[in-house]
Amino acid sequence: MKLLHIDASPKGQRSNSRALARHFIACLREQNVELEIDYLDLTQQPPAHIDESFTIATYTPSAQRTAAMERTLAPSTALCRHVLDADALLFAMPMHNFSYPSVFKAFIDNIVRAELTYVVDESGQYVGQLNRQKALFITTRGTDMRAGMPLAHMDALTPSLNAAFGFIGVRDPSFVNAQPTQFAAAEARDAALARARIELLEVARKWAA
Ligand SMILES: Cc1cc2nc3c(=O)[nH]c(=O)nc-3n(C[C@H](O)[C@H](O)[C@H](O)COP(=O)(O)O)c2cc1C
Repeated sequence: MKLLHIDASPKGQRSNSRALARHFIACLREQNVELEIDYLDLTQQPPAHIDESFTIATYTPSAQRTAAMERTLAPSTALCRHVLDADALLFAMPMHNFSYPSVFKAFIDNIVRAELTYVVDESGQYVGQLNRQKALFITTRGTDMRAGMPLAHMDALTPSLNAAFGFIGVRDPSFVNAQPTQFAAAEARDAALARARIELLEVARKWAA
């Protein structure tokens, strides 16, 4: 299985989401899944924010683009290749101010690309191209936003990931949300991580089946 593994936490070795992603990979290996891992650390190689030249080039049909436009789009095109070539996608990130870290937003802005990750068919419908990829989002949240908790309605991360990746064709992604990881007693934080590890093993078993 060719796995694209992306980390987006700025916390390096102290990051919970990074540790959980490594745990998931270990679970996959325990399930005898043979892995070819394509790894990107978005905090080390942050995708560029969208600028004016990108907005013009990206909506110019590929047959009409100039060489300069293609150069503008090249880093984004390369990122699209990473996701299109993968069999499975593993994205690990903390919640930052109710959604993803800005570096992951920049990543999304680079991979939602007409004629690459989505196409428009004859009837004007958008057709996502990531139909064959399994996907897992590991998110860590300092607070507890599970259903029924007082802050549950402030989770703008899950709906936004579903919208962006659903648009480019990802079907039925798995979510493992570790919460609360920060603003809670040590027992609650430990329990959150333990729950996440159990859920990750379940996803690994599903992927291995
Ligand atoms: C800038 C910043 C913003 C944050 N915003 C939120 C938030 O909106 N909701 C929340 O529950 N936790 C928030 N947190 C806490 C992190 O989501 C939490 O500590 C998480 O475990 C970090 O994951 P990591 O260790 O992989 O970086 C924030 C942390 C930082 C640094």
